[in-house]
Amino acid sequence: MKQELREASSLASIDEARFKATMRCMASTVTVITSRLGAVTNGMTATAVCSVSATPPSILVVINQSSRSHDLIEQGGSFAVNILAAEQAALAHHFAAKTDDPLQEVDHRSGVTGVPVIEGCVAQLECVVETKVATGTHSIFIGRVVAVEETDRLPLMYRNGKVLWLERASGG
Ligand SMILES: Cc1cc2nc3c(=O)[nH]c(=O)nc-3n(C[C@H](O)[C@H](O)[C@H](O)COP(=O)(O)O)c2cc1C
Repeated sequence: MKQELREASSLASIDEARFKATMRCMASTVTVITSRLGAVTNGMTATAVCSVSATPPSILVVINQSSRSHDLIEQGGSFAVNILAAEQAALAHHFAAKTDDPLQEVDHRSGVTGVPVIEGCVAQLECVVETKVATGTHSIFIGRVVAVEETDRLPLMYRNGKVLWLERASGG
């Protein structure tokens, strides 16, 4: 068994273009991760968000180290995941565009951690950073969830480079 593992670890990685093409097959929920450090606030569109455990309630987000949000989350020590509603597609584009002060014209309030929480979303989870793991170009931040809000709105989805709207299933 050990011999087999050693051989597998010596396999070459697939090429980047092929990796991206394959990952485009995956449908993901679109979120905006908000952060704050002192007077500076930010939000970035993100799909790399995942539940980690219920005990304690925790989630992870995967953030490019070159993004402005990375340092705000690392130094500010908290973040919020705002799950976008189907009708908030414009926000997905807005928060991917690195505009100056992107929250300025977006309806939001300050959450319990002080990070901005966007109004009209499906749900929001506010987190305190517990762990950071750097890997390649990105960092994985694991956050303990300290406040949530949820609604029965339908989420915005992303697949193959496009945003998608979910239809409510009959009886749902
Ligand atoms: C649909 C979509 C999903 C994205 N998911 C992520 C993600 O999970 N992690 C990440 O680091 N960047 C992700 N991005 C890219 C960031 O939104 C983008 O780089 C943004 O400009 C970063 O903003 P900032 O530099 O102000 O933090 C995504 C972009 C789009 C359009």
